[in-house]
Amino acid sequence: MKSLLLFGATGDLARRMLMPSLYGLDSEGLLTDDLRIVGTARSAMDDAGYKALIEKALREFLEPERIKSDLMSRFLGRLRYVPLDVSAPEQFNALSAALLREGANPSDGLRIFLSTAPSLFGPTIAGLASAGLAGEHTRLALEKPLGHDLASSRAINDAVASAFPERNTFRIDHYLGKETVQNLLALRFGNALFEPLWGAHGIDHVQITVAETVGLEGRLGFYDETGALRDMVQNHMLQLLALTAMEPPARFDATSVRDEKVKVLRSLRPIDAATAQTHSVIGQYGAGAVAGKPVGSYADELGHASSTETFVALKVHVDNWRWQGVPFYLRTGKRLPARRTEIFIQFKAVPHSIFTGPGAALQPNKLIIGLQPEEAITLRVMMKEPGLDRQGMRLREAPLDISIPNAFADSRRRIAYERLLLDLLDGDPTLFVRRDEVEGQWTWIDAIRAGWAANAMVPRPYAAGAWGPSAAIGLTERDGVTWHD
Ligand code: BG6
Repeated sequence: MKSLLLFGATGDLARRMLMPSLYGLDSEGLLTDDLRIVGTARSAMDDAGYKALIEKALREFLEPERIKSDLMSRFLGRLRYVPLDVSAPEQFNALSAALLREGANPSDGLRIFLSTAPSLFGPTIAGLASAGLAGEHTRLALEKPLGHDLASSRAINDAVASAFPERNTFRIDHYLGKETVQNLLALRFGNALFEPLWGAHGIDHVQITVAETVGLEGRLGFYDETGALRDMVQNHMLQLLALTAMEPPARFDATSVRDEKVKVLRSLRPIDAATAQTHSVIGQYGAGAVAGKPVGSYADELGHASSTETFVALKVHVDNWRWQGVPFYLRTGKRLPARRTEIFIQFKAVPHSIFTGPGAALQPNKLIIGLQPEEAITLRVMMKEPGLDRQGMRLREAPLDISIPNAFADSRRRIAYERLLLDLLDGDPTLFVRRDEVEGQWTWIDAIRAGWAANAMVPRPYAAGAWGPSAAIGLTERDGVTWHD
């Protein structure tokens, strides 16, 4: 009997993402018949109570047409619940006994997913180890945040390493589970077209935007202690940057791909006390309007003034041969005008234009990889405008467009956790973050925060619904670059 043991089983992530994903996998026959999903949390509840809670969540978060009564009862039949207070080590023996009663074999096939506050990681791992639920044959997945700086991330990694080998440790960055993020690898390494231009000789600059319209979404304490840099840049945006900038791995496997990503992370030029003011901009939203609706300020949502950034823009350099002199501009924020995640690559201009006359101005080519909400790849190229050209050829920029939902209309778009949970069950860590990656990310982020502190930088205000403070525009305009809005 195989078991997936879920800590934080009544939480938001479990109800919104993990259970709907597991239901999706089950409905496609991708879960083995003998898989039991054992939820644990502090609330006192029995199996029936837990099944009712999860059924309610599935009905709330899945599209109604995906709910089928036979699938629902098969899926709920997999669920078990064991109440557990992770700060009480003796309770892990009861958990172990409950797993054994279910026919689980802890020395084979136990998969564990920690979706709890990071402060509980240490006691949970210790409890698992003391009850014989850790070790060589058990896989452990951990949901972010994996620390709040390098030191705390190392402490978590050390605690994990004391009970689980690195090859069985699955650190989640849910962006890696997104189809379009994986498509970046397909686009770069499945086509001969782009790679010859992919570097300083062919690319002028790169922009990575992760824009959100939402505000705090009720996560007051967590977000205010975290801020945009640690919430979004440390993990998701650095992974996008690493996939965009990395050298071609020799194979598509966990070691080769992650080796190449970590080399990029180690090549990031530090933004520190000397460069924080010129290479970073931080902002915090004030009152404004998003999508035509008035919204309050961050401080209003929070209930008090704060110096936490809800927006960050960075000018980043990857100091290696391939990327010398090519800036990567990163920006992310809450309460921006649109929900949009994209990687925008601007190629160099042609070396000499043969076209003269009005209407002959050339635009450099751009490749836009849209991750969400629309999954689309667009290459903007120069085309001749139809006409008789009495005053020379007129040219216009036009898109070569691939809308992924249209191009692959026969396949269901999955949420990222479906892929990640299946990879955890199958034991493929390629799309999970290795220890050296996460520590490389924190090293770079810690220097930025120290740079802000050394310069006493505080967030500049921006109105909700704007693209961050005006200084973010200055960050690129100084280099003659305009953000792709
Ligand atoms: C999470 C952050 O990691 O990613 C949230 O904590 C953010 O603040 C979310 O909203 C964005 O994820 P997605 O998949 O909606 O882009």
